[in-house]
Amino acid sequence: MEKPVGSDLESFEKVKSALTKSFGEKEIYLLDHYLGKEAVRNIYYLRYANPILERILKHTMIHHIEVTAMESAGLEGRAGYFDAVGTLRDMVQSHLLQICALLTMRLQEDDSIQAARIHALDQFYLPHAVSLDDVIVQGQYDAGTINGEREVSYKREESVAKSSRTSTYIALRLMSRSTRWEGVPFYLRTGKRLHKKETRISIAFQEPQKIGKGATPNRLDIILQGEAGMRLHLQTKLGGTEPEFRPLIMNDPLVCMGDCLPEHGLLLLEAITGKQTWYLSFDEVRTAWRIIEPLQKHLDKKQTKLHLYIAGSHGPDAADQWMEKMGVKWF
Ligand code: BG6
Repeated sequence: MEKPVGSDLESFEKVKSALTKSFGEKEIYLLDHYLGKEAVRNIYYLRYANPILERILKHTMIHHIEVTAMESAGLEGRAGYFDAVGTLRDMVQSHLLQICALLTMRLQEDDSIQAARIHALDQFYLPHAVSLDDVIVQGQYDAGTINGEREVSYKREESVAKSSRTSTYIALRLMSRSTRWEGVPFYLRTGKRLHKKETRISIAFQEPQKIGKGATPNRLDIILQGEAGMRLHLQTKLGGTEPEFRPLIMNDPLVCMGDCLPEHGLLLLEAITGKQTWYLSFDEVRTAWRIIEPLQKHLDKKQTKLHLYIAGSHGPDAADQWMEKMGVKWF
């Protein structure tokens, strides 16, 4: 069964009880296709296989995390599904939360990966704020141009009501209760009809003591889709008598080598052999709904602002201003 399972906690429980009346839990495969992507699984294995990386992934070293999933595509003929669901349920409840779980989970042997993922997901919470507007921003695309093609506004897409308030862009902030990640904000954003396709984790390290002119904080980008690769941002001194710096970017493509299957192929093969590790469990889906539900209720209120953005842009200006209010910028 493809995600999203249900559209909130209540409908999720109904789907679950309907399914478990006829099948045992071990016979049910809840699919999030991001968990079939080699690049997404690699978030976990990069940590697993590189102790040097694992040692620096902790709150004493990290300033904040950004997870971005941009798409240049629009509805692709799926208005009937998407208009009722919106970006928070379509992308954040599953794919983006899974990326956060893989980045923060405890390293485990293969057979307990699923349990460790659920535990990591369960640590995420919405930061305390005066208003949920400080935690989430929503947007919807207006007409614009992408790669030389003129695109219509979301409301003019086939089978979408002219009055639709469905969000095609979401930015939000989460925190984790895990002591390792204590105090580190996670900024997530995703949207359709943006300027390019890219899925990326950016790990921003703590700002160093003032080291000199031109220096910027270290950063590690793990680019999962688009021009997949890893980029480590270091600093190097410019020539001269003064300590002035320029960014030195170590860059390596991150391409799947070996027996690479497309995500659904890999997942179906695992279902055939009865392997549940990279499928969602009901507990995992329930945990994701627990995080998302208050936000979805907030967005569903008519008075919550829906910011328009031009197709082919970086998203609504309001999402940039929202970040700047917290003293950070999207990379
Ligand atoms: C799907 C969503 O799960 O993921 C789509 O329903 C979205 O709306 C898609 O476009 C993105 O997947 P990918 O693999 O292209 O990043």
